[in-house]
Amino acid sequence: MRRAIYPGSFDPVTNGHLDIIERGCKLFDEIIVSILVHPEKQPFFTIEERRGMLAEVLKQIDKGSCHVRVDSFQGLLVHYALAQQADAIVRGIRAISDYEYELQMALMNRRLEPSIETVFMMPAETYSYVSSRLVKEVFQLGGRLQGLVPSIVEERMKEKVSNA
Ligand code: PNS
Repeated sequence: MRRAIYPGSFDPVTNGHLDIIERGCKLFDEIIVSILVHPEKQPFFTIEERRGMLAEVLKQIDKGSCHVRVDSFQGLLVHYALAQQADAIVRGIRAISDYEYELQMALMNRRLEPSIETVFMMPAETYSYVSSRLVKEVFQLGGRLQGLVPSIVEERMKEKVSNA
């Protein structure tokens, strides 16, 4: 039984994240998609909204026999991963520019907890430029998000600003 944590902010979840989860499902029996609770950050969506959206969009992807669930965590990722009895942390790498920061994190995590491996996965090239940060910027400036995020995410973003 191989269990991995796929940690991140997921603010919001993008098609790139879903692509990584589908690929991760080929390697692991269970993936816990876990949202970092970051008290200082001003997110677009609350933790509950992000959890809800993730749970909905996970229904739409091909998980094979892998069990995927959504959670959130605070504090050190490796402490959380140990508590969840995970074997690995999955992170997506889109470009060389991601690699430097991801390598630093992976090595720090390994120093803190040598029993947990970090697995880097490459999303489809189609998503190599997709990030939650750019998705929010494009949305706030009136651009189309079709193909970048699941349609329910775009709908929730529209609802959020119309209710503000
Ligand atoms: O989607 P993100 O924002 O790039 O994800 C970053 C995340 C959540 C993986 C990273 O910030 C993290 O693991 N934070 C938890 C605190 C921690 O363990 N810090 C030490 C990492 S070396």
